[in-house]
Amino acid sequence: MCGIVGYIGERQARPILLNCLARLEYRGYDSCGIAVAGGGLQVHKDAVRVQALREQLPRRIEGKLGIGHTRWATHGAPSRANAHPHGDCTGRIAVVHNGVIHNFQQLRQQLVKEGHKFSSETDTEVIPHLIEKYFDGDLGEAVAKALNDIEGSYAVAVLMDGVPELIAARKESPLIIGVGDGENFIASDVPAVLDYTSRVIYLEDDDIAVITGEGVQVKRNGEAVARKPHQVTWSVEDAQKGGYEHFMLKEIHEQPRVIRDTIRAYLTADETMSDWGVFQKGDSGDVLMLACGTSYHAALVGKYILEGLFKIPVRAELASEFGYLGQSSARSQAIVITQSGETADALKAIKRLRSEGCPVIVITNVVGSSATRVADRVVYTMAGPEISVAATKSYTAQLMALYWMALPSAKIDLRRRDGLVMELRQLPGKVQRILDDEEKIAQHAAQIAKYNSVFFIGRGLNYPVALEGALKLKEISYIHAEGYAAGELKHGPFALLSGEAPVVALVTPDATYDAMLTNIKEVKARGSPVIALVEEGDDVVAEVADSVISVPKVDPLFSPVVNTVVLQLLAYYAARERGCPIDFPRNLAKSVTVE
Ligand code: G6P
Repeated sequence: MCGIVGYIGERQARPILLNCLARLEYRGYDSCGIAVAGGGLQVHKDAVRVQALREQLPRRIEGKLGIGHTRWATHGAPSRANAHPHGDCTGRIAVVHNGVIHNFQQLRQQLVKEGHKFSSETDTEVIPHLIEKYFDGDLGEAVAKALNDIEGSYAVAVLMDGVPELIAARKESPLIIGVGDGENFIASDVPAVLDYTSRVIYLEDDDIAVITGEGVQVKRNGEAVARKPHQVTWSVEDAQKGGYEHFMLKEIHEQPRVIRDTIRAYLTADETMSDWGVFQKGDSGDVLMLACGTSYHAALVGKYILEGLFKIPVRAELASEFGYLGQSSARSQAIVITQSGETADALKAIKRLRSEGCPVIVITNVVGSSATRVADRVVYTMAGPEISVAATKSYTAQLMALYWMALPSAKIDLRRRDGLVMELRQLPGKVQRILDDEEKIAQHAAQIAKYNSVFFIGRGLNYPVALEGALKLKEISYIHAEGYAAGELKHGPFALLSGEAPVVALVTPDATYDAMLTNIKEVKARGSPVIALVEEGDDVVAEVADSVISVPKVDPLFSPVVNTVVLQLLAYYAARERGCPIDFPRNLAKSVTVE
């Protein structure tokens, strides 16, 4: 989703802004632009990629103060006029904005009446005009007054030619300040500034920061507030491809490390999650899990894990639908899963739960993200920065967090529990074996890449895995894919089965095994080729399926981890075969900060 960058200091702003923008490309965007101030304001923008903007910029753009933006269209189509930065009538002010302004129509009508001229269809454009209206010698004050008129969410960066400062402000949309020596940066996300600094201030809602090369002053409701810089532990290398062709492949390959790090961190934590007593409430406790996208699939796996290990009712719902459901106050615990900690629907759900008195645990990968500030408790996953739009290692890390929340206090036989904990520690090695054998999966993917429609089926714990396999395939290869509970295929999708629609079946040696075998036979009888994921050593499924992919033997409880890694590789290599832009799929964004 939209990305903001800003620079003020002793160096030329242009190359720094372009580099920071390139580092934000992973968030997804359709247009981009920069504004540089230095003896006049120079604004360049278009509905193009950052590299194309870099190539079409005039040679002479000088100035040590600038802002930049990658836009993901909401109000108005992707076009040069709608791209940010936006300006005022004097041509001195430039603004970049993420978020949505709900009352922009009224504000715009009023400003037009007052003589302001607009040149885009965006909601953002009211901001520079409001700042122009209120400017009386103090830019920070004018921005504060302008934002006071606005209803909605925003992260903004503002500059004015002739004023040697950058203004940054946020409300329900992420924004950080990168603190350098004699220079400072603004960005939507940490990876944008890692080339320059690892000291970061996380702005909070309603903060307005006045930034110069030498310092940062943050105010809230007119009062100065202290915001300490944090040292970021991610390195530049973490946010780079490290020799892999795509971030997605690198991130898939990082999963053994992610699992290991996660287990180590949870083992050495001062307070174990079982101390929280979340799942020890016996039959009276119930749990609600909310998330979006891939995180929702992790939540669905979590439902099966927790119901299985605690025999308590667990509901998993889409955060985007939660607002339309009834009262939640009767619930004893909610878990919201969000990799970025910034997904608008997840944040809205957390606020509602809190207002209804329901305690919320957030599972997230991003320290200091918005979700962490509104949660009662936070469980951090240890995935490191995930750049590819398609979530892979963050999902695995979420599953690890769920296993680790559940296992220590699971209501199961002690010997079984210890056995499961032992197995958990062996998972990195097993995932590594899948990765070592990826060539075979790539061959299956080359077959899948020929089709236009693919079904994924599973039961129990592997039903959400089927959903995730289908999501991965459709988002990066653009092949139509659907995930189904295997028992549901006969209630409609059978009509679509034929030699042109292969089915990927997830077969695990648990209570679902026999039913899955039956389902595979039903699918075969209707002409669809079947690729089955089976535990190594299984030679029964091979007799009914067209081909099999063997996965290392794990306790069925952990089958979602190994099966998902296989499906990630299947999607990756199918997309590669089709020549798709794997890390930045069309129309998608990494962090969806609008409802
Ligand atoms: C976007 C991303 C997905 C992600 C989803 C939820 O759609 O492309 O990869 O699963 O948002 O994001 P979250 O940060 O809340 O987990």
